[in-house]
Amino acid sequence: MLKLTTLSLAAVLAISTAAHASGEPIEAIAPAKVKDAGLAELGKKLYFDTRLSKSGFISCNSCHNLSLGGTDNLKTSIGHNWNQGPINAPTVLNSSMNLAQFWDGRAKDLQAQAGGPIANPGEMGFTHELAVEVLQSIPGYVTQFKKVFGSEKVTIEEVTKAIAAFEETLVTPNSRFDKWLKGDKKALTANEKAGYTLFKDSGCVSCHNGAAVGGNSYQKMGVVEAYKATSPAEGRVAVTKDEADRFNFKVPTLRNVELTYPYFHDGEAATLTQAVETMGRIQLGKQFTADENAKIVAFLKTLTGDQPNFKLPILPPSSDATPRPKPFEK
Ligand code: HEC
Ligand code: HEC
Repeated sequence: MLKLTTLSLAAVLAISTAAHASGEPIEAIAPAKVKDAGLAELGKKLYFDTRLSKSGFISCNSCHNLSLGGTDNLKTSIGHNWNQGPINAPTVLNSSMNLAQFWDGRAKDLQAQAGGPIANPGEMGFTHELAVEVLQSIPGYVTQFKKVFGSEKVTIEEVTKAIAAFEETLVTPNSRFDKWLKGDKKALTANEKAGYTLFKDSGCVSCHNGAAVGGNSYQKMGVVEAYKATSPAEGRVAVTKDEADRFNFKVPTLRNVELTYPYFHDGEAATLTQAVETMGRIQLGKQFTADENAKIVAFLKTLTGDQPNFKLPILPPSSDATPRPKPFEK
């Protein structure tokens, strides 16, 4: 991946711009191609199923709420036993486009990621064994796992595979910006286009580019000026143990960014105006005027695409043998 430490901004810009046929550094999002509808449908149920948590109260959707842009709109999440999470929950929308998962990229893909929260004591507070035991005790699930995987024995690999397949459907095409990219010149106002020009000319696109407008590289938070974070997260160094990666974070996608406040890994920027001000100052050494900032924000709001649209899944009921939730146990 390109690193600003080794290449000048202008060079990075030239490379990232040249990479796309449209001549633009951002590409339109293609609608999801569902490879296995049964698998994704099972994954959708599991995504909403609170019985994968110890409390019987927390599902993936609790922190990645699909009615709220795939986030919880909290600075940091609330986990099992009202545990205060250490870091802001990124959106699951378009997460299949990320080069890896988590702010520090410690999970290589969506399937590797999906097992994490179930067994994380501060998130869903459960174990993989108990999650499988619960599912195995629910006849409606056993039938569906058998249909999809051909066996009545539920495994955690199947659970995470199904959830990942569902997440792959969570892409958001048809934003106004994408319509404009595809040639509908009336899709953006003059003000929004001016914002896009500023976004390109100021150098934001050197890190936020591609179909997801981010998600495809790790970059330093605080290139020009140090960022004073309120969380102890150290970034990519936690994975690579290479000091050069200290405070490098996966560049977040800016798709649907209007919906995914608050911003940054510590959730410290409450508004887009604040996030744009901070980015300009600490990444690029730029002080935007209020008018420039508002134009960039107006552009960013054109990146909101079609949100997931489906019937709320109705989950199969527990059986008499299903282990009961323990909402108030540590
Ligand atoms: C208690 C809140 C909580 C729950 C429940 C939860 N997550 Fe997360 N999720 C987070 C937080 C916080 C992060 C960021 C952690 C990090 O980067 O260190 C995250 C990260 C992710 C990411 C990575 C996104 C990216 O851009 O890097 C994906 C994908 C994801 N979660 C999916 C899921 C799935 C699937 C489930 C259910 C099995 C789930 N989450 C349950 C809070 C939660
Ligand atoms: C050097 C690479 C780089 C440049 C240049 C850059 N960004 Fe970022 N951007 C990042 C990284 C890394 C993060 C996440 C940082 C963190 O949370 O610690 C981020 C986060 C953001 C966020 C918050 C997204 C979220 O979901 O939390 C917004 C909004 C944003 N950038 C907009 C911009 C704008 C506008 C510009 C140009 C003025 C810009 N960025 C320039 C790397 C960059």
